[in-house]
Amino acid sequence: MPFLEPWSFIIFSNPLIFFYYGSKRAAGLLFSKFASEKNYIMRKNNPALFTPLKIKSVEFRNRIAVSPMCMYSSEDGFANNWHLVHLGSRAVGGAGLVISEATAVSPEGRITPDDLGIWKDEHVEKLSEIVSFLEQQGSVPGIQLAHAGRKASTSSSWKGGKFLSANDGGWQTVAPSAIPFYDENPAPTALNQEGLEKVVSDFQNAAKRALKAGFKVAEIHAAHGYLLHEFLSPLSNKRSDEYGGSFENRSRLILEVTKAVREVWPQEFPLFVRISATDWVQDGWNEEESVKLAKLLKENGVDLIDCSSGGLVPHATIPIKKGYQVGFAEKIKAEADILTGAVGLIIEPEEAEEIVAKNQADLVLLAREFLRNPYFPLEAAQKLGADIKWPPQYERAKRS
Ligand SMILES: Cc1cc2nc3c(=O)[nH]c(=O)nc-3n(C[C@H](O)[C@H](O)[C@H](O)COP(=O)(O)O)c2cc1C
Repeated sequence: MPFLEPWSFIIFSNPLIFFYYGSKRAAGLLFSKFASEKNYIMRKNNPALFTPLKIKSVEFRNRIAVSPMCMYSSEDGFANNWHLVHLGSRAVGGAGLVISEATAVSPEGRITPDDLGIWKDEHVEKLSEIVSFLEQQGSVPGIQLAHAGRKASTSSSWKGGKFLSANDGGWQTVAPSAIPFYDENPAPTALNQEGLEKVVSDFQNAAKRALKAGFKVAEIHAAHGYLLHEFLSPLSNKRSDEYGGSFENRSRLILEVTKAVREVWPQEFPLFVRISATDWVQDGWNEEESVKLAKLLKENGVDLIDCSSGGLVPHATIPIKKGYQVGFAEKIKAEADILTGAVGLIIEPEEAEEIVAKNQADLVLLAREFLRNPYFPLEAAQKLGADIKWPPQYERAKRS
């Protein structure tokens, strides 16, 4: 028989007192349900967005990340002072994580001749200078490792964004199948076994160099219609070998790349994968396959799925609106039981706060808002009522 306090007999034996306590309890239960749903409002002075996150041995001071953004400002893949100041400013601005732009694992994996790269040892020195600066500012330095596949060999957006022929400084592109992104472009070469092995070892060597440079987070780029996404989607992968056809076959290359990277990326450092959760096209890659893939990636040592979408084909209709990709992060987090990052038109501090507080994602990644405002985290903290440390050099500007 359960133990009952002596005073409980008084309550149960008196109908008036019983009614009073019963209705109080019912109201309490109702209130707590409401309160947990509205948790993000009630935490006003302890915003979820500014709660540190620890993944493996790496601690992020808040949940705000600079999403990878191509700067098309390199020569021969080298980082320079543009990258130092661009990434460095966002670290000064308070980001918890600063992820470099898509950093090519091989020259043919660049989107444009001006991409940042990490395919040779000489690239490491400047990157490590940038990494040190980011860490001095309290940000975790991350790098996105990328291969552009059939979307390589173009000029940057501000130079026209057109396919580059060999005469214009372009190169032969590679892909799962010989199908170009735009019908009018020359066809990419379908990778053979040797080519596939080179892709895997290029990613692995790039990860080794990233480690030498001091990065603490590596993100494999498997989104936006670049090489690894091209393998995943049945729209761009028409192979009949063990890398095409079934979900298992289409996922083979990303899993091989992930294993190869995890082999050299220390267990105590986080590994992220950015995916396009859907192609937004009938019969393309979809959310259900993304959940299945996320489970496999988790089994292979991936810590967080960065949930973007689209980019595989030019004719997709994407319903772009505020937070339009947050649902993917929420679904994958819930169904694959893995940490996720939400990205895409997250602009206001309150929106970012709500995503984290409602447990829809563990991180929010901002791209264009960070280009407009490198100090987004400092300002967001103020708006949400979090008292965070400013860089001492800027402290006199902090409003109390
Ligand atoms: C200038 C620019 C460059 C970008 N380059 C990359 C990139 O290198 N890798 C990547 O995964 N996404 C890239 N993106 C996509 C962003 O990371 C982000 O997913 C997208 O812009 C949506 O977020 P936003 O609405 O906050 O801008 C780029 C976006 C912009 C605006």
